[in-house]
Amino acid sequence: MLGPVILAASRSDRMRRLISAAPVTKQVVDRFIPGETVTDIVPIVEDLTAKGLELTMDVVGEDITTPEQAAAARDAYLELIGRLKELELGERVEMSVKLSMFGQALEGGHELALANVRPVVEAAAAIGTTVTLDAEDHTTLDSMFAIHEELRKDFPQTGCVIQAYLFRTEADARRLADAGSRVRLVKGAYKEPAEVAYQQKHEIDKAYVRILRTLMEGEGYPMIGSHDPRLISIAQELAHQAGRKLDEYEFQMLYGIRGDEHLRLAAEGHRMRVYTAYGTDWYGYFMRRLAEKPANLRFFLRSMVSK
Ligand code: FDA
Repeated sequence: MLGPVILAASRSDRMRRLISAAPVTKQVVDRFIPGETVTDIVPIVEDLTAKGLELTMDVVGEDITTPEQAAAARDAYLELIGRLKELELGERVEMSVKLSMFGQALEGGHELALANVRPVVEAAAAIGTTVTLDAEDHTTLDSMFAIHEELRKDFPQTGCVIQAYLFRTEADARRLADAGSRVRLVKGAYKEPAEVAYQQKHEIDKAYVRILRTLMEGEGYPMIGSHDPRLISIAQELAHQAGRKLDEYEFQMLYGIRGDEHLRLAAEGHRMRVYTAYGTDWYGYFMRRLAEKPANLRFFLRSMVSK
């Protein structure tokens, strides 16, 4: 029951102010968001890639309210890509972006988000890597998929995320499982109503397997975004059944969650990409991590009390 309450709080400005200002929060936040600036994050990129892991980078932020903030988000990614160029890591480090951070919810937001994300995709391509469009709440997805399709005309390797909890996703997966596509499948992290999404964990897990089968049997490149041990072994089995080689799909997990598993899968020869978030506007991202595992909330609250 706690998850939906935390997800509701993740959209509350009052809670945002309270939690962001709490004296001990930063220390707890660091587990999931290990830096605020490009300078903080570069050593982490170097460390993880030296261990055989790949990365997808998220400059945290969402739900911005002005076009200037959207432009600043674009520039933050361009700054990051500028530093990545010096590291010469190519596709081992890609970008993940949330279109709401690029202005999608503002007036004329669809065009604005496309105009802001395009230079990021161009800059990524120029250093030999790519961008994946994260999936946010269901009201944003038609716009996200349209932007994805538009970007793929010039940059076919641009990826997108689909969420197993949404009823629409099985059809989206069939549409997206074409040659050259890159699709990350996740369970879904937002509070969605029963009209559009499964609410029970077992229903979501079953949908995840059905959708993953579609992706594995299709012609694209599936990216399995999950920490769930059961789904990870099912994914390996489905990949095997579909005759996929180890470099024809990849696992993805979030920084700070099941780190040993990242290394275990990489050591087995799998491509393992760590979603690594950094930046100052961490509130929404952090709250979704709390909602996924209520034990995180207990840890967080204990750290505040023991201070
Ligand atoms: P599940 O929640 O069942 O967790 C399985 C196990 O993993 C747990 O038992 C626990 O051990 C561990 N675990 C999971 N979450 C944890 C946490 N927060 N803290 C500690 N342990 C945890 N969602 C979305 O809506 N849009 C998106 O674009 C993305 N992008 C994305 C990228 C990547 C690479 C990943 C891995 C996930 C996302 N997500 C996402 C989030 C996703 O929708 C989902 O909320 C989380 O991955 C948790 O679901 P699992 O599949 O891990 O299973």
